[in-house]
Amino acid sequence: MDIERVTDYGALSERLAAEVLSCMLDSGENLICLPSGDTPLGAFKIIASKLSGKSNRLNFKLVGLDEWVGMGRDTKGSCQSCMFEHLYKPCAIGRDKIIEFNAQSTDLEMECRKMDRFIAENGPIDLAVLGIGMNGHLGLNEPGTSFSQSSHIVPLSETTKKVAQKYFPEPVELEKGITLGLKHFLEAKRLILIASGKQKAEIVRRIMEEEVSERIPATIAKIHPDSTLLIDHHAASALQEE
Ligand code: PGA
Repeated sequence: MDIERVTDYGALSERLAAEVLSCMLDSGENLICLPSGDTPLGAFKIIASKLSGKSNRLNFKLVGLDEWVGMGRDTKGSCQSCMFEHLYKPCAIGRDKIIEFNAQSTDLEMECRKMDRFIAENGPIDLAVLGIGMNGHLGLNEPGTSFSQSSHIVPLSETTKKVAQKYFPEPVELEKGITLGLKHFLEAKRLILIASGKQKAEIVRRIMEEEVSERIPATIAKIHPDSTLLIDHHAASALQEE
């Protein structure tokens, strides 16, 4: 795993946008997985400014990372509404380019198998970008998830239920999520984990200093053959060399 420390959030966004754009603009039929959340929003803005009007002529496809069970694009604060508002709509990326979970389905197991089948037939994912949760989760793979897990339905940790309130206009009850599995990230050709801000400094320190373990899902990046931990100096501030 490479560790790339950049000065601030603006630099992190530029660096991430460059990597995502290069994968999107490539002539290959690249499969890209991008996270919702606060951390990638700056990069999404840059991507939108560079991609506008072009996306339909490009060959990439986006695979949706995760969603809160019971929510969808129309639920303000959901993962899919975040992706739609900040990336799909400004970039004019049509539904034909997006494969995502229907977290409102009555058969969520089938949604998982559908996604696994799509990735098995069209994958592996060429570029997976993932935010890091305060507890080290990736997507909604909470601490304790097996590294060989494919798509699954997750009972959310107390930390995630609490931290995720920031995405919603008013308090919501969150119980379960549906997410791609750690197996998909390990098998991705390229993996980038992103973290910004002082509140991520402690989990970044633990990822770097503790052994690879299912207790901290983000440590899988240390056994991935082509991974980068991209962090700004606030997120790097608890590391010894800072
Ligand atoms: P954030 O989310 O980018 O909003 O910090 C990361 C995560 O919890 O996966």
